[in-house]
Parts: sequence; C-alpha cells; structure tokens
Amino acid sequence: MVMKRLAPALPLLVGILFMLPAYAQKFDGLASTPPMGWNSWNTFQTNINEQLVKDVADAIVASGMKDAGYTYIVLDDGWMAKERDSAGNLVPDPAKFPHGIKALAAYMHSKGLKFGLYNCAGTETCAGYPGTRGYEYQDARNYAAWDVDYLKFDWCYSTGINAKEAYTTMSKALRKAGRPILFSLCEWGGNKPWEWAAPVGHLWRTTGDITAIFDAEKKFTGYSQFGVLRIADMQKGLAAYAGPGHWNDPDMLEVGNGMSAAEDRSHFSIWCMLAAPLIAGNDLRHMSSATQAVLTNKALLAIDQDPLGAEGYKYTEVDSIQTWVRPLSSGAWAVCLVNRSSTPRKIGLDWTTVHATDSTGVGTFTLSPASQTYSLTDCWTSHVLGSTAQPLHTEVASHDVLVMKLTVR
Ligand code: GLA
Repeated sequence: MVMKRLAPALPLLVGILFMLPAYAQKFDGLASTPPMGWNSWNTFQTNINEQLVKDVADAIVASGMKDAGYTYIVLDDGWMAKERDSAGNLVPDPAKFPHGIKALAAYMHSKGLKFGLYNCAGTETCAGYPGTRGYEYQDARNYAAWDVDYLKFDWCYSTGINAKEAYTTMSKALRKAGRPILFSLCEWGGNKPWEWAAPVGHLWRTTGDITAIFDAEKKFTGYSQFGVLRIADMQKGLAAYAGPGHWNDPDMLEVGNGMSAAEDRSHFSIWCMLAAPLIAGNDLRHMSSATQAVLTNKALLAIDQDPLGAEGYKYTEVDSIQTWVRPLSSGAWAVCLVNRSSTPRKIGLDWTTVHATDSTGVGTFTLSPASQTYSLTDCWTSHVLGSTAQPLHTEVASHDVLVMKLTVR
C-alpha cells in the first residue's frame, strides 16, 4: 500500500539520490575566479614562524596587494611539530607558532585576509612532517576548528596510493567538517588531475615545482625544478579543463625572486593568460616597487580574473616569439607576445593572418581579426596602439613581453 502511494514519486527520489554524490563533493562558490594570495614556500621553505607570517600579512595590506585581490596567506610545509599528539591530532610547532593556528587565523581575519595551511596525501609531507594518510577526517575537523580557509594538499610519500581516491577522500572530509575550505591539489600532474579533479577541488597543480629561472630545468636525483617557460610549455592542451571553480595551477609565482624585470613581467603575463591562481612567493616585507608594480598591474589582473573564466593557450611559437591568446568577456581578447630568445626581436604582425580557435573549459571561441576589427591597448603601459586594421610593427626585448587587450570596435 505504502509502496503504491510512493510509486509516482520514485523517479524523483532516485534522481535525488543520484545527485547526492555531486552535492557531497567540494564547496562551490569559493573560486569563481582564480584564487590569489601568498604562500611561504618559494622564499622561506620550512623557515617560517608566527611573526614572519604576521609581518607578511601586514605587508600584503600596506603594499596594496590585498586591495588588488591577494587575500589568502598560506603556510606551506614546516608549520607542524614532527609528531602528532597522543590523540592523533596535528600539532603546530610550538617554537614557531607559540599561539597556535587558530590565533594566527584570527589575526588574518582581523586584517580582512584569509588563511591557509599545507599538508600531504601521503604518510609524510615532502619535508618529513606528519602526512594526512589515514587521518583525513580528523585533520579536516581540526582545520575547520582552527578557522582555516584554504588547504594545499601535496603528494609526497604516496607510493601505492590512488591519487583520485586520496584527494576525493580529503575533499569529502573537508565537506564533512563543514567549514568552506578552498582545496588546492598539489599532485604535480602525474595522474592527470585535470581529468578528474573538477568536482574534488578548486585548483590542481599541473607540473613539478617551479624555480626562479626563465627557461631551464634544474635536475636533482629523482625530480626536477622547472623555469617559467618550461612550466608554460607543459600547459599544452589543458585549457579545455579549466573554468570558474576549477583551475589549472602552473605553480606559485616567482616574481621578485631574482629574475630580471623583463622575465618577471613575462612570467606574470603568461600566468594571467593561463587564468592561473596568483599565489605570490616573494618576501613581501622587502619588495621593490618594481616587483610591487608587476604584482598589482590592474590590466593584467583583469585578464587573470576575467569573469568568463576561459583559460588562454599558446597559439604559435615562431622564431622564438610565442603568441598566447585568451578569450575574455564581452567578446574581447588578450594577446601576449613573449620573446624567448636572448636577443631583441622585431615584430611585424599582420592581424588578418591570425585565426586562433580552440576549445576552452567554457566553450570554443575564435579570434579572427580579418572578420572583426579590434582596438588595441598595451596592458603594461596603458598606451593605445591603434587597431587590428593595421599591421603591428614593434620590437620586443629579450625575455620581455607585449600584452595587448583587443576590444571589439
Ligand atoms: C612539494 C610541492 C611544493 C612545496 C613543497 C613543500 O615540492 O610541490 O610546492 O609545497 O613540496 O615541501
């Protein structure tokens, strides 16, 4: 009798049941544009402490970076004591963080910032601190109790672990803990997270670690670190997987960490073309005004944070000149020319020969100045450059960049 009365509602009930797993995954709405902030690793490795991070937070506010959108302050590896407590809880290193994590998160929140931590899906972190394997739900509960807003989750000591399962378990643990925590997968790309991580997290690393060199690979036993152009090379084919809420992460920024001014500009420009998360990795307490100007350039940040959320891609690389294109909202485009060579390059670009089309995670867009004329603005200098009706004649210095916004006329 009861079954009979329920029968008409059955398809609806089954439908709801099928929808549940999707609902039970990551928190939505946390990264409609690529996340922005600062992370301790690139400059400080494990040499971090409470005062340093507070000073960095003060600097991010004072330098105008917070107002420009950099809101997450993330502690990378090295924040923990070497052992869990007797109840299995993670313990912040008492010498480095004498007032604990909750107090530090409260400090960030009082400045209008958000706060992030790091751990690892394996049994240990890369620097040898306690990993989360087997403690996913307990760790997630502690992060929520400490008012953490962001978790970067690494992939060291993970032999024999299935990446999709491990990251899904942590994602579910965060969800269960109840606090909206942005989830950053740091799996280095080996298990193609772009194919499965969109429901799991908000960003996923696509490569091994970046280092502050322009175009080389540093080899160590068993792993490499990559310069910015090597990382950029490895993004081929990935634009189709990114979109609002789920981003490819070509690793944190090395702007201000020793490359030339031109190289810093190129690095930042390519990351903005890629809709990359912008996580600064320099010492914000002692940043030059040139570095500050790169990190807060409004026109570049508008490209990175464009609400359409389409990732750009490399259209051509000819005679060491790379041409990157990115579809933007309102039918606009960003075009970025990078000079990979060690000498200046003269550019003669007949726009009518450009026909760039590719699928992005939010649709397929075509740039064809032969059928649509655009006005051109130089994003680094704000100079108006005319339009795509005339060929572009210019020169790009070695390792430098020209970024143009193309607006429908
Ligand atoms: C890995 C990650 C880096 C950093 C270190 C910390 O190498 O890819 O980004 O988090 O671990 O040990």
